[in-house]
Amino acid sequence: MPKIFVTRKIPEAGINKLHDAGFEVEMNPVDKVLSKEELLHYLKDGEYDAVLSLLTDKIDADVLKGAGQKCKIFANYAVGFDNVDLIEAKKIGIMITNTPGVVSNTVAEHTFALMLAIAHRVSEGDRFSRAGKYHGWEPMMLLGTDLSGKTLGVIGLGHIGSRVAYYGKKGFDMNVIYYDIKRNNEFEKEIGAIFSETPEDVLKKSDFVSIHVPLMDSTKHLINADRLKMMKRDAYLVNTSRGPIIDEKALADALRNKIIRGAAIDVFEHEPAIEPELMKLENVILTPHIASATEEARDKMAVLAAENIIAALEGKRPPNLVE
Ligand code: GLV
Ligand code: GLV
Repeated sequence: MPKIFVTRKIPEAGINKLHDAGFEVEMNPVDKVLSKEELLHYLKDGEYDAVLSLLTDKIDADVLKGAGQKCKIFANYAVGFDNVDLIEAKKIGIMITNTPGVVSNTVAEHTFALMLAIAHRVSEGDRFSRAGKYHGWEPMMLLGTDLSGKTLGVIGLGHIGSRVAYYGKKGFDMNVIYYDIKRNNEFEKEIGAIFSETPEDVLKKSDFVSIHVPLMDSTKHLINADRLKMMKRDAYLVNTSRGPIIDEKALADALRNKIIRGAAIDVFEHEPAIEPELMKLENVILTPHIASATEEARDKMAVLAAENIIAALEGKRPPNLVE
């Protein structure tokens, strides 16, 4: 009976799917991230046919080799796969899959939760109320910004970015511009989005910038001090992709010096650490990498990861093979 190792507790829906397919499932018995040594310890007898891994597991050459000859697939329980050494996996012949599509609405909703919260000063207002500072309605108290009629700049028009653009247009009547390495004429027509030739152009023209690119060498620090300066002084930056895409120290400087008006981020450069300078600021919202953390999305991710494993072990091409 094929054996699967799951690196941390995930929703039952995925585990049940693996059991239904007739697989034996073993799970990290403690609900915490395994260190590389611990992960290698579990894998070292080479008894697993597949591993279901998380974005917090570093799947490098040692771990891929450590999984042994039998292991055909690492199914990453995430949209992102920057935690996996793809080149090494290819060399060894281990398939890597991710869980795209099923979380797009959820992450787009969280992106708007952040965008609305920073523009309408929701977190700041909540802190204000709890601190006992609310002494009566005032015409000029905690004034924020409308989304409607503003320009939303989307950098990276994949599954998630295009959902964000769609909600921006259809939900909040925003003007949408976008940058992507691939232009999407059909999408432009569908929602009246305008293509920018460069990310810089999006930064210069947008009132709200939302980042939806994968983390790669070419996107690390895509948002740095120079690019933050290109943004409008009253613009907001939102990031639900990966932390290292933004130079976090530069962002803290820009927010402190009012180079931009605000930011709302769900991901951090050195997770789980958060730049201490950001924590001191009122004009930033910090959520702990929860953009896909709804019951619905996490169930779907678990099922999709299981489906990828089942396909691979049945000798089929997994639906979400990363190449
Ligand atoms: C979450 O960050 C994911 O990549 O799914
Ligand atoms: C605000 O509370 C209003 O009634 O305008």
